[in-house]
Amino acid sequence: MIQVENVRKTYGAFTALDGLSLTAAEGTVLGLLGPNGSGKTTTVKVLTTLLAPDSGDAWVAGHSVLDNPDLVRRNLGLSGQYAAVDEKLTAFENLHMVGRLYGMNRRTASARAHELLANFRLTDVAGKRAGTFSGGMRRRLDLAGAIVARPKVVVLDEPTTGLDPRGRLDTWEVISGLVSDGTTVLLTTQYLEEADRLADHIAVINHGSVIAEGTATELKDGAGAERIDITVRNAVDLQAAAAVLALAADGLGTPEVDPAALSVSIAAPGGHQMLVRVLAELDARSLPVAEASLRRPTLDDVFLQLTGGTAKTNPQSTPDTSMEGVPA
Ligand SMILES: Nc1ncnc2c1ncn2[C@@H]1O[C@H](COP(=O)(O)OP(=O)(O)OP(=O)(O)O)[C@@H](O)[C@H]1O
Ligand SMILES: [Mg+2]
Repeated sequence: MIQVENVRKTYGAFTALDGLSLTAAEGTVLGLLGPNGSGKTTTVKVLTTLLAPDSGDAWVAGHSVLDNPDLVRRNLGLSGQYAAVDEKLTAFENLHMVGRLYGMNRRTASARAHELLANFRLTDVAGKRAGTFSGGMRRRLDLAGAIVARPKVVVLDEPTTGLDPRGRLDTWEVISGLVSDGTTVLLTTQYLEEADRLADHIAVINHGSVIAEGTATELKDGAGAERIDITVRNAVDLQAAAAVLALAADGLGTPEVDPAALSVSIAAPGGHQMLVRVLAELDARSLPVAEASLRRPTLDDVFLQLTGGTAKTNPQSTPDTSMEGVPA
C-alpha cells in the first residue's frame, strides 16, 4: 500500500534522502523512527507529492507520486508536523469544510465532523475558533482533518509531539481504530515507545537512509539488554561506582561515565538481579547513591548503538528543524 524505492532528495548541496526505501502492507502501521534532521518530514513530503524526488519513486495504493500525483492525493490523508487548521473557522467548521471539499453532502459532512470531534475530545469546543486553540488542541483537530474522508493511507508526521499524556493516548486509540478498519498508516516519531505501541514494522532512519528495520522487539534486542543507571552523590566516587558496575557485568559490558551528570550506565543482561547486586556492592563500599534505575533501551540507546552519534543537520537550513546546540 506504501512503497518508497531508492529515493534521493537534495536541498542544494545537502543530501536529505540518500537512497531511501520503505514498504508497508495494507492494514499495517509503518513507523519511521529517526532523530531531528534525519529526513522524516522530507520522506513524508515526497510520499504526499509535496516534494518531487530527485531520483527514485514512491507509490501510494499502487499509484506513483511521479506519474499519478492526483490519484496518490485522492487515496491519502496527511497530518503534517505543524498543524494546518483554518484559524478563522471553528473546530466543527474546519472538519465540515474538509468533508465538503471531499464531496460529502452537508448532512454527511456534519455527521462525520461531530463523530470526529467526539473521538478527539473536541466536542466541548466545537463552536470555538481554532485560532484560540492550544497547540495540543490544534494537533488533534489537524489529525481529525486528515481522516475525514476515510483515506486508504494516512500519513502522520510526529502525531503526538506536543500532546499531553491524555492527548497521546487518545491519538494512539484513534490510530489503532483506523488500522483495525483496514487503513494503512505511516507515522513518523522520535519515540520508541510510540513505535513500539503502534507500529507493525519500524524503519530507523538516519542521514536519509534506513539504518535498521524490524519490529520494536527486534530493534530493542539489537540495542542490547536493559540498562542500569547509577548517579552518585559525590564526584570522587564516580570511578569507583563505574568499577562496581564493570564487576557486576562480569566482562559483558563497559560502563559509560557521564562526569557532568555524576552518572554511570551499563547494559544489564542480568536485569533486576544485577541491579540488586550493584546496589549491595555500592552499599558495602559506602558509596552514597543519589539515584539508581533499571530501564529498557531508549531510542537514544538504539541510535548510539547503531550510529555511535546523533543526526547530522543541514548547516545551511533555518534552525527550526535543527536541535543542534540545544541542551536536551
Ligand atoms: N527546505 C529546506 N532547505 C534546506 N534544507 C532542508 C530543507 N528542509 C529540510 N532540510 C534539511 O534536510 C534534513 C532533513 O530534514 P527533515 O525535515 O526531513 O528532518 P526530520 O527528520 O523531519 O527532522 P525533525 O525531527 O526535526 O522534524 C535536515 O538536515 C534539514 O535541515
Ligand atoms: Mg520533521
